[in-house]
Amino acid sequence: MSDYSELPVLPMSIRFDHAAGTLSPAGPTLTRRMSDLEGLFLDQDAWLSALADGDPIVYSVVSSRVPEIDRELPQSITTIQPGVTGGEFWMTKGHQHPNHQGEIYLGISGSGGLLMFDGTSTNWVDMTPGTIGYIPPGWAHRSVNVGKEPYSFLAVYPGGAGHDYGWVLEHGLGQRVCTENDGVVFRDYFTGARP
Ligand SMILES: [Fe+2]
Repeated sequence: MSDYSELPVLPMSIRFDHAAGTLSPAGPTLTRRMSDLEGLFLDQDAWLSALADGDPIVYSVVSSRVPEIDRELPQSITTIQPGVTGGEFWMTKGHQHPNHQGEIYLGISGSGGLLMFDGTSTNWVDMTPGTIGYIPPGWAHRSVNVGKEPYSFLAVYPGGAGHDYGWVLEHGLGQRVCTENDGVVFRDYFTGARP
């Protein structure tokens, strides 16, 4: 957390280096490996195999120096590596904002999607470079790489929104995003059945 700016945060310009995938000035960087995604893939055996196969990096998140506190508007760039485990595309853990607030994503490169779930309904937004995906307050969300290249997107979110990852473990996200015959199919989150 020491990489965030001290208060008050002054007006600034943040440079995004697309090739390097870095922000400058840079804030904290988060790396999520397969071991960090315990309980999130439906096929537990496939997850264990991926773990044994070098515990690969699934995604990383580079943040700006704007702190995650109320009234500030932090940004981050997430890059999800291409991959499939147990038929499921590689993805972020997914979270709900405990303090229900909206968020926007902007597709930067690659081919991905934004899976949203409000506890009842599921919504999917195809994310390609230039697509803005809007996450309304109260919708849990996960990003998925459905392509063969890394998928990167910019997130801008209220600093006081918070991140509840346990919500997804308890409630799921309605559906799972899987591959079949080289295409994208959706399956029930808890049973894996085709809707
Ligand atoms: Fe979020």
